[in-house]
Formats: sequence, C-alpha cells, structure tokens
Amino acid sequence: MRPLLAHCIWPTVARFSVHHVDGIRVGLLGCGVVGGATLRILREHRDELSARVGAPIDVVSVAVRDVARAREVDLAGATVTTEPAEVVGDPSIQVIVEAIGGVEPARGLILAAIASGKHVVTANKELLATGGAQLLEAAAAAGVDLLFEAAVGGGIPIIRPLRESLAGDRVRRVMGIVNGTTNFILTRMSETGESLAEALAEADRLGYTEADPSADIDGHDAAAKLAILATVAFGATVVSGDVQREGISSVTAEDVSAAHELGYEVKLLAVAEADGGQVAARVHPAMLPRTHPLASVRDVFNAIFVEGDNVGELMFLGRGAGGAPTASAVAGDVVEIARNIVSGGRSTISAGYGTKAAIRPTAEAPVRYYVVLSVLDQPGVLAAVASSFARHDISIASVRQEGSGDQATLVLITHVAPEGRHRATFDELQSLDAVKEIASTMRVEGTSEA
Ligand code: NAP
Ligand code: HSE
Repeated sequence: MRPLLAHCIWPTVARFSVHHVDGIRVGLLGCGVVGGATLRILREHRDELSARVGAPIDVVSVAVRDVARAREVDLAGATVTTEPAEVVGDPSIQVIVEAIGGVEPARGLILAAIASGKHVVTANKELLATGGAQLLEAAAAAGVDLLFEAAVGGGIPIIRPLRESLAGDRVRRVMGIVNGTTNFILTRMSETGESLAEALAEADRLGYTEADPSADIDGHDAAAKLAILATVAFGATVVSGDVQREGISSVTAEDVSAAHELGYEVKLLAVAEADGGQVAARVHPAMLPRTHPLASVRDVFNAIFVEGDNVGELMFLGRGAGGAPTASAVAGDVVEIARNIVSGGRSTISAGYGTKAAIRPTAEAPVRYYVVLSVLDQPGVLAAVASSFARHDISIASVRQEGSGDQATLVLITHVAPEGRHRATFDELQSLDAVKEIASTMRVEGTSEA
C-alpha cells in the first residue's frame, strides 16, 4: 500500500485559461428526494450561479421512472423521459447528475456518460463503495470529472476537505455518525421512548431512509459511506465488504437507558483507522461518553470526527440526509465542474489510484466493551468471571453488581484489548455454570483509551 496521505489519489483541480462557454447543459437522472431538490436549487440560484461560474447552468433533460407521478418540482422547461440512456446519449449535455440510486442501471449509465466525455456528479454511495475504483479509473482515462460530495454526510462538506484542505496532512482516524436515519431513531428512542419501528416510520415519512430501510438499520448504508471516507482519507481503496458491520436492531430501550445512567449515549458509529500500513474499518452501535463531541449529535444530524497528525482533531457537523441538504452538496459539485468547463481545467486523478488497502483483521481491532451478565449470586462467581477476562489478557476497568438474592446482574467495562480476545471471553463466559446469560454487550468508544 502507498503512504497513507489524503492527497495520493484525489482529484486536484488544474486551472487553465478561461474559455467562452455559452452555458452548461445538465442532464438529471432521477427526480426524487435528491434529484428534485437539486433541480429546484439550480433553478432558484440560476442567476447567482451564472455570475459565479461565468456561464448559466441549465437542467435541460430529466429521466424518471414514472412521468405521471406528482412531483414537488415543476419539470416544465426540461425534456422528460423514462429512458435515462437518452439523456446520457444527448451530445449537447456536458454534465450528468445521477440521482437514481442503487448499483444498476446507475453504474452502466455513469460509465456510458463518462465514455461519451460527460462529467458526472453522483450521490450514490452504494455504487461508489462497491465499484468506485472502476468509475474513477474510467473518468481519469476519459479526462472527465466524477464528483460525489453528497455520497457521505448529506450536506456536510467532508469529501472536499479531506481531499483538498487536509491533503498536506496524514489522517490517522475517522470516526463518524454517518447514517441520519439510525441517529434519528436512537435519538427518539433515547428522548421520547419511542420504539425502533415507530421512529423508523417517521424517518421514512421525512425522506431520510433508503428504499430498503434495512440498509439503514443493519448498517449497510453507514458501511458504504465509511468505505468511501476511508478511501479518500487514507489514499487506498476500501470497499463495503472490508467494513466489519453490525446494525442497531439489537439495541434495546434498556441498553439506551442503562448507558444514560452511566453517563453515555448510544450511537451507531463508523470508525476507520490507518496504522502500520493497514486500514481497519468498522460500523457498530457504541456507547460514547456524554462529554464526547459526537455524543451530542442528535436527530438526523451526521458528524465526522477526523484526527490528523498535525491538524489534531476536527469535527464536521450537519444534516446528513434529506433532499435539500443533500442537493446542496450535489449542486456544489455541479458548480465545481461548471467552473472547470469554463476555465478549461479539470479535477484529475493521480496515477496509482485503485491500489487496494491492506485490511487489518477484525479480531485485531483494539476495543473496549460494556458487558452485562446475569449471574448466580454465590461466592466465587465474581472471581470466576474476572478469571475468564484475565485468561484472555483483558483488564477490567470497572465492575458493579446490581440486585441480590438467587441472581444478580454484573455490569463490567473493560480496558482496551483486541476484539478477538473479547469474543473468546464472551464464548467462555457463556459456558460458565454461574453465568445465566450475557444480557448485553456494547463497545465503548471516545474515552481517553479508545
Ligand atoms: P428517490 O427519492 O427514490 O428517487 C429516485 C429517482 O430515480 C426517482 O425520481 C425515480 O423515478 C428515478 N428512477 C428510479 N429508477 C429509474 C430508472 N430506471 N430510470 C429512470 N429513473 C429512475 O431516491 P433519493 O432519496 O433521491 O436518492 C437518490 C440517490 O441519492 C441515492 O443514491 C441515495 O443513496 C442518495 N442519497 C440520498 C439521500 C437522502 O436523504 N434521500 C442522501 C444522500 C444520498 P420516479 O420518481 O418516477 O419514481
Ligand atoms: N438513508 C440515509 C441516511 C440517507 O439515513 O443517512 C442519507 O445518505
């Protein structure tokens, strides 16, 4: 793997002389939550953007699945078709905005657009996290731009800061709340006591969820975004399949309230680390101390906490889902491309893109755990439990016993130790006669140890 520097792979804008350009013609594939809001922004800000870019930007063609569907945005003034290939094949169009989502037909359409010399903007994290390398290589070969600020963190500028502002530093760790739906759900569970199902229905109504909500709940969406973030931050390709993933479906109201009592908030965290030439990436629910900046990120908000060698700690916060915030990021990419067209420059991809990151085995990830055990209230039980942790070389940071009588509950928090040793300990604890049940386990992040 090459050195882990943010600027290794990334587009850097080369500026040349200003060309006379009559206008930038955009084709929009998909006019749903994101596509519709993008069309609205580009229209509402047309005069201002024209002044900024030096040429007007017009969405001239829109592809949808159902032309008869009622939409919040008026499509009059644009050609409307159910054949996205027609938009991609229109030689008068310079920029394609892909807002359909999913892998196919989006992938084929983007590749066709690139092959015909069009620049592309996409918010499609699912596609980028599986086939991003192929798309970026095709764009580099064709000499066109492929930008995707909206794919991670909705409206939060994070891809551009990682690729440009932090290009001179070495990013070591990225830890974020990158799925708005699950953060919305965990916030509602924590603050109003709603069930996961009730909070999910509301997130869906607000347009936050993926077409298949399990993409949110089971952590697939966060894993895809983390793969993109890690690729940009560390300069080597990480794909969704490289991310160790656990969703929030097993998080209960009891877990959330027990965390509160101990001074923690439960969040679905996405964590990527670069160390010793390897990258580790994981998505899972975790307890964060209430004093950690990410613990106060509520509702549909996303936040990405970046640690760099020289810059130290940075946090990027904003609305991570929803039409308007996401479309703000899409529109920003369209403007960057439009400026490139006018200036004759382009965002280029350095040689070497596509190097696959070496992935650190999951079992080696250093983590801390919160563990709740239902045990017999007898002499020697605490010693047996402690011995099991000791046998796996895991140190216990705190232990509390609740209840007494025949059964009691032990609540432990461990010090940092490899994930694999924690797993082996949990397996062993389950086999002890004194342990009736492992009632709950959850990783603890954001303390001075992790
Ligand atoms: P959406 O509301 O479901 O919109 C999808 C659009 O694509 C619809 O207009 C649909 O047409 C059209 N479409 C679907 N298949 C098509 C086909 N074969 N040919 C032509 N048009 C087709 O989805 P979205 O929420 O806007 O998401 C779009 C992309 O943005 C996805 O990649 C998503 O992951 C990403 N994203 C979404 C958010 C968010 O908050 N929603 C945030 C960040 C990124 P009809 O309208 O006729 O059905
Ligand atoms: N379903 C996604 C989320 C949409 O909740 O974050 C934004 O990518």
